[in-house]
Amino acid sequence: MKRRAFITKTSTGAIALASAPLLWGQEKKFQGANDRIRVAVIGIHGMGQAHIAAYSQIPNVEVAALCDVDQNLFPETIQKHFKGKTPPRTYVDLRRLFDDKSIDAVSVVTPNHWHTLAAIWAIQAGKHVSVEKPCCHNIFEGRKLVEAAEKYKNIIIQDGSEQRSNPSSQSMAKFIQDGGLGEVYMAKGICYKRRNTIGHAPDEPVPVGVDYDLWLGPAPQRPFSKNRFHYNWHWNWEYGNGDLGNQGVHEMDMARWGLGVTLPMRVCAMGGHLMFQDDQDTPNVLIASFEFPNPAGGGDKKKLLQFEVRHWFVNRELELGPEQSANTYMTSAANTVGNLFYGSKGYMAKNVNEWKSFLGPNLEAGPSGKGEGDHYLDFIEAIRSGNRATAHGDIKEGFYTCALVHLANISYRLGRSLDFDPVNMRFKNDAAADAMLTRNYRAPFVVPDRV
Ligand SMILES: NC(=O)c1ccc[n+]([C@@H]2O[C@H](COP(=O)([O-])OP(=O)(O)OC[C@H]3O[C@@H](n4cnc5c(N)ncnc54)[C@H](O)[C@@H]3O)[C@@H](O)[C@H]2O)c1
Repeated sequence: MKRRAFITKTSTGAIALASAPLLWGQEKKFQGANDRIRVAVIGIHGMGQAHIAAYSQIPNVEVAALCDVDQNLFPETIQKHFKGKTPPRTYVDLRRLFDDKSIDAVSVVTPNHWHTLAAIWAIQAGKHVSVEKPCCHNIFEGRKLVEAAEKYKNIIIQDGSEQRSNPSSQSMAKFIQDGGLGEVYMAKGICYKRRNTIGHAPDEPVPVGVDYDLWLGPAPQRPFSKNRFHYNWHWNWEYGNGDLGNQGVHEMDMARWGLGVTLPMRVCAMGGHLMFQDDQDTPNVLIASFEFPNPAGGGDKKKLLQFEVRHWFVNRELELGPEQSANTYMTSAANTVGNLFYGSKGYMAKNVNEWKSFLGPNLEAGPSGKGEGDHYLDFIEAIRSGNRATAHGDIKEGFYTCALVHLANISYRLGRSLDFDPVNMRFKNDAAADAMLTRNYRAPFVVPDRV
């Protein structure tokens, strides 16, 4: 939430001025009056609130519609964000929202099992789309989303890996690519967050005002339970992808970017849901290792990525120096999330907004970088300019990162290491693992084979 506070404080000043040249004099590529971009937010219980707040701060952008299957959320959300403004249209069924010709762009902020289908339907309806991370619930879906992005070239599609908009991440990648750490052979992703047990919750009648069939969408029919509904769905494989696909996908993205790799040839993940007896399926301790072909060739040289998820008491493995980081959310007694990169000349530690390098045998402080960006503003400006690259959310990059999450989860669930063919995107002679590259879709909520 600190990041959102930053957006609120600055977007009316510096960011608004910076965007002024793009606001006028551009060819009209959207349908709102006076170059206004009319955005809809789909899924408003948790992170959707941050999307509404962020778009509301951007000049000439109107949050014109909200969509959620839980109608109980509309009154409070409208009260909170739309005082003195035109109230947004509300939709329960996202398909009716996509029929609304007055909407230019949508943010998909639903649970993960809906992301790809919602994004593909939106693209097919001609809407620009920002889709929250992870952009796909499995590898098949990610491939389809990439195909859709390639086919519908005039649509801006932004992956939700918001750290790609941060100057700190951009300078991290440039420093490493320019050889600042020498030959980088390994990256580490760290996702330590204190999370308590979710306990047990019984099956119960669907709450009044909730369209649970639409909430389930592509997932199998199930009775309602609070432990599989708002937020707690993250810990159930039918909807979420565990913390590796939740907080971890951000650090996975940075690790993969810094390392300069796409898909691995081997993955091994182990862990468990330790300490607690509750309704959670997904692990709260996970260690995943990946082996990549070296993109620069180099005989049998490989690149390695090691990722760790932990949910209980944590150490501050990611020391950025004595002053730590201003962002205590990312390095505190309860949380440590970020990356380490190791190269032939030294190493780098990075959290969300800042990185530092330590070079030579004595690990002297080397170059460093910091800076926070605005992924929402980048999306809007990309819509105005028609230039996808400036959205800083290439969907193919998003897919590659999600693929690592899914591969590690498959290895964990099968309980063994797996050999993967990064070119054909299938496992090597492993039908059981291949079956987990996709899932059974509940009609009519089917991610199409042909987009
Ligand atoms: N980028 C970030 O830093 C960040 C942070 C938090 C969450 N997220 C992402 O945001 C997404 C939502 O997470 P959350 O914690 O807000 O979950 P949540 O369960 O609190 O909210 C999801 C909302 O989507 C609604 N919904 C479900 N199916 C729908 C459908 N078919 N149509 C319309 N609405 C539907 C639910 O009713 C709920 O209101 C997740 O994908 C998560 O990964 C991103």
